[in-house]
Amino acid sequence: MSQSTAQSIEGLTQTALTELLQLENAEALEQWRVHYLGRRGELTTILRGLSQLDLEQRREVGALGNRAKATLEEGLERRGQEISEAGLVQVADLERIDVTLPGRPITTGRLHPTTQVLREITDAFVAMGFSIVEGPEVEWDHYNFEMLNIPQGHPARDMWNTLWVDYVNEEGQRPMLLRTHTSPMQARVMESMEPPVRLVVPGKVYRYEATDATHEWHFHQVEGLAVDEGITFADLKGTLYEFARQIFGARRQVRFRCDYFPFVEPGVDMSIDCFSCEGTDSGCRICRGSGWIEILGAGMVHPYVLRAVGYDTEKYTGFAFGLGPERIAMLKYGIDDIRHFYSNDLRFLRQF
Ligand code: PHE
Repeated sequence: MSQSTAQSIEGLTQTALTELLQLENAEALEQWRVHYLGRRGELTTILRGLSQLDLEQRREVGALGNRAKATLEEGLERRGQEISEAGLVQVADLERIDVTLPGRPITTGRLHPTTQVLREITDAFVAMGFSIVEGPEVEWDHYNFEMLNIPQGHPARDMWNTLWVDYVNEEGQRPMLLRTHTSPMQARVMESMEPPVRLVVPGKVYRYEATDATHEWHFHQVEGLAVDEGITFADLKGTLYEFARQIFGARRQVRFRCDYFPFVEPGVDMSIDCFSCEGTDSGCRICRGSGWIEILGAGMVHPYVLRAVGYDTEKYTGFAFGLGPERIAMLKYGIDDIRHFYSNDLRFLRQF
């Protein structure tokens, strides 16, 4: 009895699955379900008859029956999916794809505005014979300050609000930081080569800064350095004047005023005349009515710095400068908030 019941369960499963594959719509599937799995369905009837078997047989055949039921249910679901997917394709083929519609444009990426300005700036110096080098963003106090004539405890350190790296050396000091400017590369480069030196260093810098429209805690700088025999302040002026004309147009005038940086002597800041109002608008938003816009710091490399890298200060002189590409981009394109550069807002980025 149990033998034949087992056989009929297997036979029934085979037949049912074969039939199932020929069904083409939801209605036929429902009929099939009622026929095999319904309350009076074939499989259900067989399973109900199990109560006449003795306990051991009941357990064996019962397990077989339950497996058959699960197989049929799975098959039903799979076939249902196949039918509905096939249906979708048919509908789509016939009416959903309008082949006359224009294609969707592929959006292409672009360079970040900071990258664009950085390249424009470095290109201007490359054209004047400078080469480009880059340096580490995590820097030693030694290069960021000491080698630049800014010893421990010197008040000039307050000019750079420093983010220190949480690393303590054997002497209990924290000698490592996120570089506050690109100037440490002056010392690194001069240590590794003899004059003539002519290079620019584009890169990221970091400051411990509360952010607002004109301050970010990270931004970029381009450092410049030229050291050779007989370099004078006239070379500094000529080079930076040419740079200003390249970036802001041939009509620009420049102005130098005294400023202080411990690693240059004399130190200056350079301004250009206002390209927006050309000095005619006392309410000008760009130059605030002064007619001049400050764009960089510069100076003659301090003899202390040359000596620290082992250069002969009787033989060599040089100039250095540092400028902020975001500031230059803000002036050039009338961007009113430096935070736009790092907020990843496509409405901003797509304008460049
Ligand atoms: N490193 C200075 C700063 O971050 C800028 C600078 C560079 C000034 C080189 C003079 C010479 O403010």
